[in-house]
Amino acid sequence: MTKIISFESSADETSVAIVEDGHVVLSNSVATQINSHQRFGGIVPEVASRHHIEWITRVLNDALKTADVKPNELDAVAVTYGPGLVGSLLVGLMGAKTFALAHNLPVIPVNHLAGHIAAANFNQSVQYPALALMVSGGHTELVLMRKENQFEVIGETRDDAAGESFDKVGRLLNLPYPAGKTIDEMAHRGQATIKFPTAMAHEDNYDFSFSGLKSAVINYVHHADQKGEQINQNDLATSFQNAVVDALIGRTKRALENFSVKSFILAGGVAANSQLREELTILLNDFSETIFIPVPIRYTGDNAAMIGAAGYWNYKQKIFADLDLNTDPGLDF
Ligand code: KG4
Ligand code: ZN
Repeated sequence: MTKIISFESSADETSVAIVEDGHVVLSNSVATQINSHQRFGGIVPEVASRHHIEWITRVLNDALKTADVKPNELDAVAVTYGPGLVGSLLVGLMGAKTFALAHNLPVIPVNHLAGHIAAANFNQSVQYPALALMVSGGHTELVLMRKENQFEVIGETRDDAAGESFDKVGRLLNLPYPAGKTIDEMAHRGQATIKFPTAMAHEDNYDFSFSGLKSAVINYVHHADQKGEQINQNDLATSFQNAVVDALIGRTKRALENFSVKSFILAGGVAANSQLREELTILLNDFSETIFIPVPIRYTGDNAAMIGAAGYWNYKQKIFADLDLNTDPGLDF
């Protein structure tokens, strides 16, 4: 049995976890700083770094205590080295390297995006080839995995990420940051009364674009303001969410038709979206050879357990880093 301790601090969550064999979560301690950033409507990098420093040792102690694991029972230390905010990443990286040095453990470098995808293994074992829809606050990508730990981006957003569009529309409606979950809930109470465009629906590729939709929502709200009309925020949420989900479903369908895969993974913060999960479940009924593996909702947002899962893939391939490992804020696959 391989026990990996993992560190994640790329954005506004400080997290340490202990995961066994890449899929059994022994502990997953997460400290979120959302409250500190809400009044600014987004993450303030300087504030985020300070919080990580304040929290990292507490979260580390909590993860060890909850799992009831001693450092000498561990096999390796996995850590997110990118993508993310440089000052935030550095705190987790220094924490992980210090822990590794103190306990003579190897360091495993982990890509945050691979972590989001690896969290599918907390649902059930992924069969390959697999296709993953990775939708988060910073990324929107369709990723083909011909085998475990191999990533080929076949489509991505040309402008805003899906989560970013939820957050920007939330800001326009004065909703607390991040707005994805709130808009998801509002959408249940509204009607799809407004027709927003679904970008690139007819284009011959797997790419996404959400900035046109965002502009259409902004125009709608400003137009209503000018005329002194009251908008129904729930109807707006339903109509906006429909457009985002339509775009994600359309591109996914096209990819599933052209690549025959054994598993389809839904990962990243936006994977918590109820309408997206429902509509993908329905879509996957038409692809009987492919099992749908959404990441369990508790692991869709940023957490260190997912870094432990991806870290295990690297561990098996003996992908280790030296202690001079640096952050890579712009890392992609
Ligand atoms: O993966 P994540 O936790 O952080 C990044 O790596 O970006 O994703 C955060 C994003 C935010 O934009 C948030 O609004 C969105 O995920 N999100 C949702 C939902 N829950 C979180 N978007 C739509 N529906 C949700 N239920
Ligand atoms: Zn993330």
